[in-house]
Amino acid sequence: MGIVSTKDMLQKARREGYAVGQFNINNLEWTKAILTAAQENRSPVILGVSEGAAKYMVGYNTVVGMVEGMMKTMNITVPVALHLDHGSYEGAQAAMAAGFKSVMFDGSHYPIEENVQKTKEIVEQATAIGVSVEAEVGSIGGEEDGVTGTGEVADPEECRLIAKLGVTMLAAGIGNIHGSYPENWQGLDMAVLKEIGETTDNMPLVLHGGTGIPDAMITEAISYGVSKINVNTECQLVFAAATRAYIEAGKDKVGKGFDPRKLLKPGYDAIMAVVTEKMNLFGSSHKA
Ligand code: 13P
Repeated sequence: MGIVSTKDMLQKARREGYAVGQFNINNLEWTKAILTAAQENRSPVILGVSEGAAKYMVGYNTVVGMVEGMMKTMNITVPVALHLDHGSYEGAQAAMAAGFKSVMFDGSHYPIEENVQKTKEIVEQATAIGVSVEAEVGSIGGEEDGVTGTGEVADPEECRLIAKLGVTMLAAGIGNIHGSYPENWQGLDMAVLKEIGETTDNMPLVLHGGTGIPDAMITEAISYGVSKINVNTECQLVFAAATRAYIEAGKDKVGKGFDPRKLLKPGYDAIMAVVTEKMNLFGSSHKA
């Protein structure tokens, strides 16, 4: 099938009341683990790529080539979207030019008029070539690969304005934070989320900061229209822990010596386990 946009998969998820996971990728091992889990669970999936991760992987062209090559050789038949996470205006244009079929334009740090104008322009450019667009209103707290947000809760009226521009999906700040949640976290603002869900005409809503949100809150958020949930930190944590355990057990010294493929295998397995668990929690398993 090749890389697709998120439009059909998210509209189906919104209609049927589940969410598709966006799992961020950083290298070949993460990508292979996520694609394998998606295929095994018969789940649609979104591969998220931050601008920093794209740079690390030698640019958007390399990422597109790697994902397309893997999908072909691994016979991936479930829908796979490749999505720019928290893109700048120029980043969104560059990712589209390289073959990304989905981009986030994060204009949440601009005044609302400028966010509206710039989002509108990106939507026009993207729609002309069949690319889906995620916009952001309010701000996701914490830091994500160099992009920092204050954690401001979105105004439902501003959400309605941005949703009308023809975006495919909308990320609204509702007290969610990138990275780990502090002890005294107040939880997601479900009242605001419900209102946003009601004022945006069945638009698929996006929940960033998917690591560390209690399962019951995830399920409630999905019931109010969240159709895409982003997970990054949890994959980082399990990958690091599994690699560390492997080294501390002295296994990297067994046999002929250091083997990078064996070193990265426990982390690969750990990511597959996280992705499988999330697909079951979000309800996307067996939906492809
Ligand atoms: P976490 O790192 O908190 O899982 O959030 C990921 C995210 O929202 C990516 O945009």
